[in-house]
Amino acid sequence: MFTIKNGPFTETNADALLVGLFDKPLKFEGVLKTLDESFQGNLTGLVKNGDLSAKKGQAAVIPTMSQIQTKRIVFAGLGKEKEADFHTIHEAVTIAAKQSETYGLESIAVALDSFVNENVTAVEAAKAIFEAFFMARFHYSGYRTPGNEPEKILKSIDVWTEADAVEVKAACEVGRAMAGGTNTARRLTATPPNMMTASDLAHHAQQLADQYGFDIEILEREDMEKIGMGSFLAVAQGSAAPPKMITLKYKPNEDWNDVLTFVGKGVTFDTGGYSIKSKDGIVGMKTDMAGAAAVLGAMEIIGELRPDQPVMAVIPATDNVISGHAFKPDDVITSLSGKTIEVKNTDAEGRLILADAITYAKQQRAGRIVDVATLTGGVIIALGKDKTGALTNNEPFFEQVLEASHEAGEFIWQLPLTEFDKKRIRQSDVADLNNSPGRDGHAIMGGGFIGEFAEETPWVHLDIAGSAEMSPGVMTRTLAILALS
Ligand code: BES
Ligand code: ZN
Ligand code: ZN
Repeated sequence: MFTIKNGPFTETNADALLVGLFDKPLKFEGVLKTLDESFQGNLTGLVKNGDLSAKKGQAAVIPTMSQIQTKRIVFAGLGKEKEADFHTIHEAVTIAAKQSETYGLESIAVALDSFVNENVTAVEAAKAIFEAFFMARFHYSGYRTPGNEPEKILKSIDVWTEADAVEVKAACEVGRAMAGGTNTARRLTATPPNMMTASDLAHHAQQLADQYGFDIEILEREDMEKIGMGSFLAVAQGSAAPPKMITLKYKPNEDWNDVLTFVGKGVTFDTGGYSIKSKDGIVGMKTDMAGAAAVLGAMEIIGELRPDQPVMAVIPATDNVISGHAFKPDDVITSLSGKTIEVKNTDAEGRLILADAITYAKQQRAGRIVDVATLTGGVIIALGKDKTGALTNNEPFFEQVLEASHEAGEFIWQLPLTEFDKKRIRQSDVADLNNSPGRDGHAIMGGGFIGEFAEETPWVHLDIAGSAEMSPGVMTRTLAILALS
């Protein structure tokens, strides 16, 4: 589907040629000089007249009028050359890809060397371009009746470069895998809840296991009753849909100790239970499995790119609904860890299912745990929707996660967890823990509750309640990069 080519890129007959453009300094050298010559020096004029901007975030599609074989050139504005980094290229290509979408391109060529600068090599640029391009082209097709227009799909990408073809090709594969996993997470999250039940999540995990050779284990309600997963089962007990505790294991070698583990909240629909949500607050709660989706997306990337270290994924999957069997506020439940929990609010269900998932992960030899969850509305109040809120019990491990998030271009901000906070989480007259100790520090109460089950195991909690809405697929790449580092 894509090929690396050395040679004069002006010979490409692709539907469009993608070119990076720095505005300061605007140098008509290299790729641009070659292009300008093909246009008898007219490109320079376009820039001077403002018809073509190289400013960061601006893209332009211009027809070539048969001056060269390709039908049009898509320029991606990169801004100041000295400041342009991996993320600049990522954002510019996202904009260029969206802007050129209406042309129904079936083949594109990339003038890779036009993106290279002192901060970014051709290999890094190739990864940024592929990742951004495939992410930008993602659309959730949904269930509308299809129209008669045949959809045009991209069939080929040629990358023109003077850099090492083998290395560039490998970088393109990495970029494409990153985008693929992210798009999978987006698709899972966007799917309506009647078509994305716990069984559907388990089915998706099974497909991943078959495709990439992961070990898979799915615990059914009866299995969980036997081992005493009382916290997860309390949330699931109102549902007619069978709950699933899904575990995937990626084992690149014999070693299975201190395993890097991802735990994703898989609430396929959150009504709030008897602490029911309002008629407005309930809409959109199909996305309450975005944490599970990020974990499954990351496992897809791990399957594609096969890092050296073992990785485990644990996903507690159920909906949170009401029936005669459902759990109630004031119930006291016993978690897999043995700790008892007073349920003050059935809408604080994420922490209950994650508690047992984390204990289970530890039993399966998790050594470092990252949980990803649309856990609280409170994180949106605290940080807005462009940031993922984090808590940790281990600063060095948090630093590793933070570094991975920087590489992914995903914004994480750590919240404090004090002894005072922990006291509030343990405040109950009838049990060891309280699942909803009041409005103050809402996001911290939620994450801190989960930390009670991580105990001494290095753990990072990522609350994506806001970020998953603004950036679907969020944290997929951060997790994958962490596994690859
Ligand atoms: N799934 C919600 C959190 C959420 C809210 C996600 C908005 C996405 C958008 C979670 O289960 C929940 O309801 N949390 C409550 C906790 C409270 C009852 C302690 C909340 O944040 O209001
Ligand atoms: Zn809830
Ligand atoms: Zn929820």
